[in-house]
Amino acid sequence: MKRVFSGVQPTGNIHIGNYLGALKQFVDLQEDHECIYCIVDEHAITLPQDPQELRNHILDVAALYLAIGIDPKKSIIFVQSDVSGHAELGWVLCCNCYTGELSRMTQFKAKSGGQESVGTGLLTYPVLMAADILLYDTDVVPVGNDQKQHIELCRDIAIRVNHRFKDTFVVPEGRFMKAGARIMALDDPTAKMSKSAEAIHSRISLLDEDNKIKKSIMRATTDSDGEIRFDPEAKPGVSNLLNIYSAFSGEEVEAVAAHFAGKGYGDLKKELVAVAQEALAPIKKNYEEIRHSEELKMTLRDGAERAGAIAEKTMKRVRDTFGLGF
Ligand code: AMP
Ligand code: TRP
Repeated sequence: MKRVFSGVQPTGNIHIGNYLGALKQFVDLQEDHECIYCIVDEHAITLPQDPQELRNHILDVAALYLAIGIDPKKSIIFVQSDVSGHAELGWVLCCNCYTGELSRMTQFKAKSGGQESVGTGLLTYPVLMAADILLYDTDVVPVGNDQKQHIELCRDIAIRVNHRFKDTFVVPEGRFMKAGARIMALDDPTAKMSKSAEAIHSRISLLDEDNKIKKSIMRATTDSDGEIRFDPEAKPGVSNLLNIYSAFSGEEVEAVAAHFAGKGYGDLKKELVAVAQEALAPIKKNYEEIRHSEELKMTLRDGAERAGAIAEKTMKRVRDTFGLGF
């Protein structure tokens, strides 16, 4: 069975972009893959976090993993900082990665831009991500499009090390959804839907009330020509709504566009509200039951043990390969 690894940062406001781009695939992949899903708290501290809030968000994301249908009997769910191999392998990989490669990353450029002093962790963030992936001999990494460059870097590092020391790492592949890989902000379809945007109607969070879902969709930015067709260049707002509809319903985006041909934007929005509300209702219900249960922490402890055992094997191999220790 092929092994899958992915991670989500515990930073709150998990939205339908995260869900349709990444999390939804996590559930589907469980059926025929060995899956490991991580809550990457060490990545979250590349920017300052309130410690109490960070701990709450770790449990929030863990509860969401379970609420969307990740089954801890099939998959491993754990917190990154519970397994020390991530940071340890991160250092080894830093020594096999060039600063030029890291400073070219678009996410680094976007996050560091305009700041007077930039934390080193923001620069080396993709190396820690590569360590997450390579630590588990991962074959497949399901993520949104915005992580493509980071996956490429991970592959480059693995290939580079393997060139020097044969068969040290499995070279992984990214897996991207057709419809959900890049969900745009509802109020500005030229920008990616993000956790940190100020405007709450730019996104739909997975735990939003029905009323909020409705408001955010009904006021979503479209255009003035009135025709419904899928054309992301010329009609980014309408195309984003069609994409979201397609990703929730599982219908091809062309079929969704055909269904709405000749109808008005109001019809598209109303139907999308219903589709989104229906998809998110069971997630919210499950989440409320799980979030404050003892079972949640037990799942994470058990996951850390199982992940730790795999990681330790890899680290032994890496230490032997590089001649670390004696
Ligand atoms: P993060 O919250 O940054 O850890 O992202 C978690 C996952 O969601 C990653 O796989 C991202 O690629 C994915 N993701 C984040 N924003 C979007 C978006 N707007 N559309 C699709 N996928 C996204
Ligand atoms: N960088 C990813 C993001 O921001 C999160 C992440 C960290 C990740 N480590 C990972 C994703 C390993 C996949 C595999 O979305």
